[in-house]
Amino acid sequence: MASVAEATAAAVDPMVPRIMRVQKRTRDLPGHATLELVSTDGAPLPRYAPGQFTMLYVFGVGEIPVSISGDASDGSKLVQTVRSVGAVSEAVTQLNRGDMLGLRGPFGTAWPTDELAGRDVVVIAGGLGLAPLRPSIYHLLNRRGQFGKVVLLYGTRRPEEILYRRQIETWRKRLDLQLEVTVDHAETDWRGHVGVVTKLIPRISVDLANATALVCGPEVMMRFAAAGLHDLGLSEQSIWLSIERNMKCAIGLCGHCQFSGLFACKDGAVVRYDRVRRLMAMREI
Ligand SMILES: Cc1cc2nc3c(=O)[nH]c(=O)nc-3n(C[C@H](O)[C@H](O)[C@H](O)COP(=O)(O)OP(=O)(O)OC[C@H]3O[C@@H](n4cnc5c(N)ncnc54)[C@H](O)[C@@H]3O)c2cc1C
Ligand code: FES
Repeated sequence: MASVAEATAAAVDPMVPRIMRVQKRTRDLPGHATLELVSTDGAPLPRYAPGQFTMLYVFGVGEIPVSISGDASDGSKLVQTVRSVGAVSEAVTQLNRGDMLGLRGPFGTAWPTDELAGRDVVVIAGGLGLAPLRPSIYHLLNRRGQFGKVVLLYGTRRPEEILYRRQIETWRKRLDLQLEVTVDHAETDWRGHVGVVTKLIPRISVDLANATALVCGPEVMMRFAAAGLHDLGLSEQSIWLSIERNMKCAIGLCGHCQFSGLFACKDGAVVRYDRVRRLMAMREI
């Protein structure tokens, strides 16, 4: 029988935010913050699948969609990384330990982690796109024996903008992960790749007939990455992207996120490339 707390969580109206408390805030980069959120009502935290997002509500300021960037197997906290680009995201990055905020969700589709067993997996992240992909990376590394080759390509503009830097250094030591980091521009002390992340795609050596790619980053980067992977030999059905649109309700009611018959909030944010390839070719979809 479900406990009172579980029953309460199950009965939650998807439009009503739950009050969460910031347990920890980390400043990963200037203008960014990673928050660890915990429940204030004793009810269990919502379970989520890698790739899903929540709506974070700062009281008196507003609400924004933010991907979950933690380890989905850790039910003790929700981890979310936010970059300040406007009023609400700025307010989220200014929250301190002990502050409260509202949370709805999780919402949206997930990376196809259930379909990855036995396959090679290529993860391609650009900039902050590493945050929505990180739960899938945890998934792969926590069950490493289930997959073939795992390749992570990560690109940022400059070395100072590398997100989760210490974790990347830890991952770099693993022999069962091919990790390549590139920057668009570098000073002389940078010893990694220079150039956009899509330039690394031809270097990938995976079983193309049995590989899946997960891609997240700025839209132009995803467009070139998906096209590059397809040119290399991956089928469109094996390439997955995470799309961003303005959102209000996040449950398919308001139409804010709609584009050409798809609702980014419920048909996405994670979508298969063949569903959006034509739309991505247009400048504004
Ligand atoms: C499914 C989904 C997942 C997301 N995950 C994350 C996440 O994990 N971390 C995170 O920081 N953000 C994430 N975002 C983006 C985040 O929702 C926006 O940055 C936020 O809504 C901006 O709201 P604002 O009020 O701060 O700024 P606004 O006032 O709405 O915008 C300020 C300015 O920033 C521009 N802008 C808006 N969004 C972005 C963007 N994504 N990138 C660059 N410029 C932008 C606007 O065009 C405008 O010029 C996600 C969005 C979606 C749809
Ligand atoms: S955000 Fe309202 S329909 Fe998608």
